[in-house]
Amino acid sequence: MLIKKIKKASGVVKVPGDKSISHRAVMLGALADGITEISGFLQGADCLSTIDCFRNMGININVNGENVTVKGSGLNGLKAPEKMLYTGNSGTTTRLLCGILAGQNFDSSITGDASIQKRPMKRVTEPLSLMGAHIENEYCPLYIKGSPLHGIDYKMPVASAQVKTAVILAGLYAEGKTIIREAEKSRDHTELMLGAMGADISVNGLNITVNKTASLSAVKADVPGDISSAAFFMVLGLILPNSEITVTNVGVNPTRTGIIDVLQDMGANIKIENIRSSAGESVADITVRSSQLHSTVISGDIIPRLIDELPIIAVAAVFANGETVIKDAQELKVKETNRIRAVVDEFSKCGIDITETDDGMIINGGKSIHGADFKTYGDHRMAMSLTVLAQLADGQSTLDDSDCACVSYPSFFKDFYNLGN
Ligand code: S3P
Repeated sequence: MLIKKIKKASGVVKVPGDKSISHRAVMLGALADGITEISGFLQGADCLSTIDCFRNMGININVNGENVTVKGSGLNGLKAPEKMLYTGNSGTTTRLLCGILAGQNFDSSITGDASIQKRPMKRVTEPLSLMGAHIENEYCPLYIKGSPLHGIDYKMPVASAQVKTAVILAGLYAEGKTIIREAEKSRDHTELMLGAMGADISVNGLNITVNKTASLSAVKADVPGDISSAAFFMVLGLILPNSEITVTNVGVNPTRTGIIDVLQDMGANIKIENIRSSAGESVADITVRSSQLHSTVISGDIIPRLIDELPIIAVAAVFANGETVIKDAQELKVKETNRIRAVVDEFSKCGIDITETDDGMIINGGKSIHGADFKTYGDHRMAMSLTVLAQLADGQSTLDDSDCACVSYPSFFKDFYNLGN
């Protein structure tokens, strides 16, 4: 696909629902008693994979655009799937399912696409095994023998909300107490939603305690817009001259707003307005205006708060004066693709001064760049980041695969070009 260029961007855009919250609303809704009504559900391929998996375990789910109803069958109401569960490209579906399936009274198996089959699953199978789970393999396909579980006291070796959530979900089924100790705070949508549903869960700083839970009550889940999708328009509005973009109804849970902190630190003109609370999650409207950015250092405990935004933050760094250093981000290597390698290889094609490091990258920004024929590696966030990057490149750029954007943002290109003039 030829990446069309726009000279400036202005207007208001509402991005689709948050991917992490959409997944959790379906999963927890399936395990609750009663009907969970979800509005603002993300109809991206990943979340549709979650729906598909739960339908295969007997859950009645009705999808009507962004409105989804899940008829919960209780914590012990899932049925043994008749075939291998298929999670597509979705790491969240795969890892969270492990936590749910480990403690069932039936066996199951999970696999996904070529990317999923390369992503590490030991990070979930290891703590689950300590709880008594029987899961064969460290990569998909995984074979899970439903087993009685017991609580553990687990110090997380990686900052990962997927791992944390898998252990929490298993903890709902485990005898006794499960304690999870995070080294750095990762997204806490599971804790918030489970708390609202009446689970026996408490959070004390970086420590989460879950007790075996008898039942969950269905709640209304109003999914806010995904800040990870808003991020593309935030950076677009900042780097294009004479631009102003407002993204409405964006989830601004503090565990997700690292990108706002970093962009402000780089000199971005960003306004966060109309902050409100919706179904336990903070929501706001975000307005960005063209800004001259300068370099920064991104490291330490902010990384889990912006992990998915690093490719688009790297785009901001290309147009920021000076040397931006991203470190402590080795987790990028095990995303949908190795995002350190992918960003460095693709950005280099434009003449950008960028160096790969073991845990991140160094970008010398503020110089002119030229267009290129980009590869996305089937990674949705690469496709969308490269589209923003190409806007300020001299000459033409192409993408080998724009369809992969549908994993998290099916209407991305339509919304993008609606803002352009
Ligand atoms: C997610 C957690 C993060 C993130 C992913 C969604 C979640 O992954 O990158 O897109 O919904 O829990 P990790 O848990 O691997 O950090």
